[in-house]
Amino acid sequence: MSGVAKRWFYNKRPKGDLESDTLALREVALAPLQPGEILVRTIYLSMDATNRIWLSEWDSYMPPIRIGDPMLGIMIGEVEESRNPAFPAGSLVSGIAPWSDRFVTDGAGFFPFPRFEGLDLADAFGVLMVAGPTAYHGLFEIGQPKPGETVVISAAAGAVGMLVGQLAKIQGCRAVGIAGSDEKCRWLTQEMGFDAAVNYRQGDLVEALRAATPNGIDVLFENVGGTCLDAGLTLMNNGGRVVICGLIASYNSTEPVPGPYMFRNMIMKRLKMEGFVILDHFDRYPEYQAKLAGWMREGKLKHRLHVVEGIDNALTALKLLYTGGNDGKVMVRMS
Ligand SMILES: NC(=O)c1ccc[n+]([C@@H]2O[C@H](COP(=O)([O-])OP(=O)(O)OC[C@H]3O[C@@H](n4cnc5c(N)ncnc54)[C@H](OP(=O)(O)O)[C@@H]3O)[C@@H](O)[C@H]2O)c1
Repeated sequence: MSGVAKRWFYNKRPKGDLESDTLALREVALAPLQPGEILVRTIYLSMDATNRIWLSEWDSYMPPIRIGDPMLGIMIGEVEESRNPAFPAGSLVSGIAPWSDRFVTDGAGFFPFPRFEGLDLADAFGVLMVAGPTAYHGLFEIGQPKPGETVVISAAAGAVGMLVGQLAKIQGCRAVGIAGSDEKCRWLTQEMGFDAAVNYRQGDLVEALRAATPNGIDVLFENVGGTCLDAGLTLMNNGGRVVICGLIASYNSTEPVPGPYMFRNMIMKRLKMEGFVILDHFDRYPEYQAKLAGWMREGKLKHRLHVVEGIDNALTALKLLYTGGNDGKVMVRMS
């Protein structure tokens, strides 16, 4: 075997938002397989907000990508050729890999992606690989919502957020979303079963959220930070839990970001706040995926995929996350 692959590389550090020359697409030659190696054909590439953090100099949960290195992302692919018995040809493999239509690896850090009966591959990958386990872990392990409590979710119409609200409903809670357009808010209440949704781009967010949470907030599932986090903290009930899942409003910042003004409510309302990285909880994946897949099959857990076609459009796809241009989980169909 040998051949050529298309691959994205980190080209130039962006000043803030991702720019058209931040990444560059090039062709690379693939070497013949050595013993222990596999050739993978990427099928879907997951676009994750955290990809922007990997391009920064932040002291993060994993080493940053350096200029000149391949861009990395979470993918699913098919083993095209194998010299590694753990990954036979024709099997599905998942992991963090170069943004590439084909690549060679020794399999370290990769794992077989299970077949989920009754679920389409795109749905299984889109929900069960990142967003679903993140929603499940953050809500149930950290947020610990009790039936009757109110759960507020920011970036609620996105990949993680739409699932958190539905899981909160399954738990018997009131689910209130914060999203960036009236259309997204309508979709959350009419299609996803949220009890209420608030457009953060219109009017006074604190007052709109207050009206949507007549009993206050018990669990704040934070995906955004900034004004969303502040509005949520303002309305927390005594003993509430704040799940710090993401702070996407700050991922493109080049300046230090001020903390929340209502941080004092951590004391006044006796709150608990906890962040997490889902990659640390791989050991829980079989349990989380089984529960999530079950609800998907029963029609209790719906989702929306935003699939962008072709490796050439991967950078454009990633940018959607930071403008709210996406309608659901963004993935690139690579082949
Ligand atoms: N802790 C973990 O392990 C983990 C794992 C996965 C994801 N996450 C985090 O979860 C969050 C959501 O990720 P996702 O993959 O589900 O993406 P997503 O929600 O599908 O897309 C991101 C959404 O964030 C909203 N947004 C972007 N910039 C914003 C801003 N400045 N102010 C308010 N809203 C903004 C946009 O929605 P609107 O149109 O509503 O503005 C956009 O659609 C991210 O913060 C991500 O880092 C964390």
